[in-house]
Amino acid sequence: MAVILDGKNLRDKILADLKCRVAALNGTPKLVVLSVGDDPASKIYVNNKKKFAEKIGITAEIIEYPSRVRQEILLTDINVLNVDPTVTAILVQLPLPKHIDKLEILSAILPEKDVDGFTPYNSGLLFSGAKPYAYPATPRGILRLLDEYNIEIDGKHVVIVGRSNIVGKPLAQMMLNRNATVTVCHSHTKNLADITKTADILVSAAGGKIIEENMIKQNCVVVDVGIFRDDDGKLRGDVNFETVSKIASHITPVPGGVGPMTIASLMLNTVDLFENSGKI
Ligand code: GUN
Repeated sequence: MAVILDGKNLRDKILADLKCRVAALNGTPKLVVLSVGDDPASKIYVNNKKKFAEKIGITAEIIEYPSRVRQEILLTDINVLNVDPTVTAILVQLPLPKHIDKLEILSAILPEKDVDGFTPYNSGLLFSGAKPYAYPATPRGILRLLDEYNIEIDGKHVVIVGRSNIVGKPLAQMMLNRNATVTVCHSHTKNLADITKTADILVSAAGGKIIEENMIKQNCVVVDVGIFRDDDGKLRGDVNFETVSKIASHITPVPGGVGPMTIASLMLNTVDLFENSGKI
């Protein structure tokens, strides 16, 4: 049976440390989340961000917009937040409705307040091998979780299923920075199992139950980024946990693995941005 990579426990440890860090700050970080539309999953994520921020002494505000909101309104509001000295972190919850140009919206956020690290400026720094103001939260959380369990990354073959801007692409770069050999697979990849079977570390961020025990090698480290609700209402990931956990050396549960680490990383990013504000 695989060792369970317990993201919830580590999240609580990180948040306890952060609470002390925030209490010692000269001022209070303020995170503003822009939330467009009424996707129930997004609403839960956004409320969670506010809940955990407040738990550790960060001020958090959610600005809600109807799904038909005009792009100009969002751009104007982001510009106001950019110049408001009390606001130290800005997050636009994704996905955005189709009529909104996501890249234009993300590009409007001041890189110093870009708590997701999604602006072209920050992703440009990351992909140039430099340090961005913030690393995307889910990849940061995954690396922190692997480090906590002393899982070696240097020289390992890391296979990532999924090529999103939120997880797959930045994680690939961050794994390269840690000297992994990285393969990124996606919906058009042929013979997926032939590739996943060569993984020392397999990260699935593909959004569906696709990783079965015959797709991984013995003692692989399995990280499941997927989260969706089964017909019976149970939360599940991309990985068949029951069977894969018998072969893997380590595995993240869903829920309780990557999700809590994303929240912890977002809070770390918020405090880091505050501490670095005016310094860089
Ligand atoms: N939607 C799903 N994950 C994320 C995330 O990490 N940040 C933002 N802004 N939206 C998301």
